[in-house]
Amino acid sequence: MADRLGMDPARIERLRSPDRLEYFDPDKIWNELTPPPDSTVIDIGTGVGFVALPFAERYPDATVYGCDILDGMIELLTEDAGARGLGNVHGIVMQPNSIDLPDGSADIVVMAQLHHELDEPVPLLTECKRLLRPGGTIAIVDWADADNGKSPPVGRRVPVARLQDDLTVAGFAALALHDVYEFHTFITGTA
Ligand SMILES: C[S@@+](CC[C@H](N)C(=O)[O-])C[C@H]1O[C@@H](n2cnc3c(N)ncnc32)[C@H](O)[C@@H]1O
Repeated sequence: MADRLGMDPARIERLRSPDRLEYFDPDKIWNELTPPPDSTVIDIGTGVGFVALPFAERYPDATVYGCDILDGMIELLTEDAGARGLGNVHGIVMQPNSIDLPDGSADIVVMAQLHHELDEPVPLLTECKRLLRPGGTIAIVDWADADNGKSPPVGRRVPVARLQDDLTVAGFAALALHDVYEFHTFITGTA
């Protein structure tokens, strides 16, 4: 059984809360990117699958890899995917900055509310580039760096310039901002 120690139950509840949909509906990512229905998507820092599970439901012909450094998160993701009858979700316990999948595995890599937790984002973004096929898309969503009454304290927010710098250093091009969230920055880049 996975070690769930260190997984704060209140945090799990927050990650699962449908209240999040009011300000961070992951469907908006896919409305913007319009992925082919048989896409392969890697969700890094998947948590309990707030992004991965609805994507897998919306696109039953897609393949979804949900990756997290906590095996307890992957256990919860896998349990929920099974309960919802989603055979297209595969949980992977990853190492920091390393996922056991071949080069060019994915059409899209998504990282939602993870960037602000990373002390050194570039090694993980470089791994994202390796995992994407040439021309594939990285999609990052994280708290906007603004005092807007919703975003968390400064340490948990990410300035757009930092996202742009980190993505550029990792080798991504054609960076684009998507103005679909009130309290989050949504940025994409091309591998
Ligand atoms: C704030 S939660 C967001 C979860 C999910 N993306 C969502 O929006 O509900 C961040 C997740 O990233 C995971 N995480 C933290 N550092 C990580 C790293 N270096 N690589 C992969 N996952 C990481 C945590 O275990 C946690 O599940």
